[in-house]
Amino acid sequence: MTRNAPFQWPIRSSSSGGRRHLLDLDDFDRAEIEQYLATAEAMREILRRATPKTPALTGRTIVNLFLEDSTRTRVSFEIAGKRLNADVVNMTGSGSSVQKGESLVNTVRTLEAAGADVIVLRHPASGAAHLAAAQVHGSVINAGDGLHAHPTQALLDLLTIRDAFGTIAELRVVIVGDVLHSRVARSNLWGLTTMGADVTVCGPPTLLPRELPIGLPPVRVEHHLDRAIEGADVVMALRLQRERMTAGRLPSLREYSRLYQINDARLERARPNVLVLHPGPMNEGIEIDTATAHGRRSAIEDQVTNGVAVRMAVLHLLTGGSAVSNGVEPAGARRG
Ligand code: CP
Repeated sequence: MTRNAPFQWPIRSSSSGGRRHLLDLDDFDRAEIEQYLATAEAMREILRRATPKTPALTGRTIVNLFLEDSTRTRVSFEIAGKRLNADVVNMTGSGSSVQKGESLVNTVRTLEAAGADVIVLRHPASGAAHLAAAQVHGSVINAGDGLHAHPTQALLDLLTIRDAFGTIAELRVVIVGDVLHSRVARSNLWGLTTMGADVTVCGPPTLLPRELPIGLPPVRVEHHLDRAIEGADVVMALRLQRERMTAGRLPSLREYSRLYQINDARLERARPNVLVLHPGPMNEGIEIDTATAHGRRSAIEDQVTNGVAVRMAVLHLLTGGSAVSNGVEPAGARRG
């Protein structure tokens, strides 16, 4: 790809020489997802050592360019880069020339000219990571772009599910809530269906059209939560993204919670060993009950822990590191 290549949609992030960018999971097959999960498991072994570091990215520079707020993704990319011994630079819009009106294109070109090998980008606009990827010779990792995609979140969700069950194929997974505004849901639809899960999305009609946008994998759409949750192995609650909503999509938060909140009473309809996930940040008491969020079924903190290992794996693989295919067995199934 040349530096001045025009913006294309979509840019496929793989090339004959191996994947250079991670923009979404829509072009991953099952084998490649397995490769990323296996490499993340190997990274997790490193993280358990007394000195949890490896020199894999010595001499490489990672710039974490976060132009939208983040806690989990930003911190875990920073820790991941440091565990791999990279030079890590963190940048937000505040205090940078973005505030003076510098464009995203000129910003990423500037960062690469200054020595960035990898740019990890969080941006409020859908398509921003694709735009950035078209401008640089190095790697771009999409750390969440608008309503579009959040591929590293989906990979860590897949790892957390596989840790619990030993497999992802044929599990009944229900994604509940604000699917319309959720990049997490979109990337998970790709990842889960590619891995063979049976996926249902559930939410009010204003936040979940009966017909999902063209281009997403076909999944069951259910507006009634009790029906959706029946027999579920995994229930993933989504944050109600009030900052992305135009007015009038919900009659009231109390009504939303009454109909769509994930709580222990509702989970009685799921499988006894149901796993509860939430990408965070949570609106406790709205889309998820506090007791459920911190209860025995919850793997929400495991998701955060797995985020570091997954991001180490992504950084390692995109910069030419070799994949682990069979080296580390998946953790034993907790939930049988
Ligand atoms: N899940 C997630 O993206 O969280 P942050 O916004 O805190 O990074």
